[in-house]
Amino acid sequence: MSMTVYTGSSNYPFANEYAKHHGLSVGNIEISRFENSELRVRVLDEAVDSQVTLIQSLSHPTNDHLVEFCLIADALKRAGAKQIQAIIPYLGYSKQDKVFRAGEPLSVKVIANILQTAPIDRITTFDLHNPSIVGFFDIPLVNVYARPAFLEYFRPTVGARSIVVAPDAGSMKNSTQFAMELGLQVAYIDKKRDLATGKVEIIGMSREVEGSDCILIDDMISTGSTLIEVSRFLKSRGARSVRIGVTHHLYIDGVQEKIEASEIDELVVSNTISRKVDGEKLKEISVVGLM
Ligand code: R5P
Repeated sequence: MSMTVYTGSSNYPFANEYAKHHGLSVGNIEISRFENSELRVRVLDEAVDSQVTLIQSLSHPTNDHLVEFCLIADALKRAGAKQIQAIIPYLGYSKQDKVFRAGEPLSVKVIANILQTAPIDRITTFDLHNPSIVGFFDIPLVNVYARPAFLEYFRPTVGARSIVVAPDAGSMKNSTQFAMELGLQVAYIDKKRDLATGKVEIIGMSREVEGSDCILIDDMISTGSTLIEVSRFLKSRGARSVRIGVTHHLYIDGVQEKIEASEIDELVVSNTISRKVDGEKLKEISVVGLM
């Protein structure tokens, strides 16, 4: 059974690697714009498989990538695809998974509704900001954990001084599991974020890290505030090194530069979002094989 892979413009390297990994071909899509800047897409393949995979990360520019995704899915359906499996390596708007302040929308639910107006049958994604986002979808949504890829990366470097640090409450469960799998203790950080300014403050930590080599995993780096502030705090408490694995680096302008200047010693990111910047501390690993 053939199952051509189609991709939007967000992450060609991921789509090419996925196709290669599964011995599939990448279909031809033309993506351009009308004079008024509206997106214009066209499936160029004369015959489209009845089952296809469509890959698109909802990364910056998120709104364009969302519309592109919906248009390509519609075009594929009209060109003859009967079943469309979507892979959305990074689900944009997932940080807005709650009504944090009165008057705000439940944004990720709105995005779930929009995505489901496209003729797709199922979605696979990585490390949702909050696993309960799955409940906002009526079609099957598979949330793949990137943790095994970080385990493989960090395990060979674990030593007697290594400790896992959970950077905030949201990361406790995943970090505890990660620490168990590495056979390490875990320190929990109590973090507070000002919802209006985004400023991050560290309130405390469950155990001391003096002389330790800290390993952290987190679902995303957006502004970088959390991990930069946590690293500063850990170093101020005597940590020897701070190395971090992050599934989604949103590559916001200027953030990698801040990371380079921070107390973070190494930042390992997955390839769910196509890389646009370089950094001496930055390394990329692939999560394609985890699906
Ligand atoms: C928090 O709940 C998340 O796990 C990340 O730590 C957070 O979203 C990162 O955001 P920023 O880089 O803006 O601190």
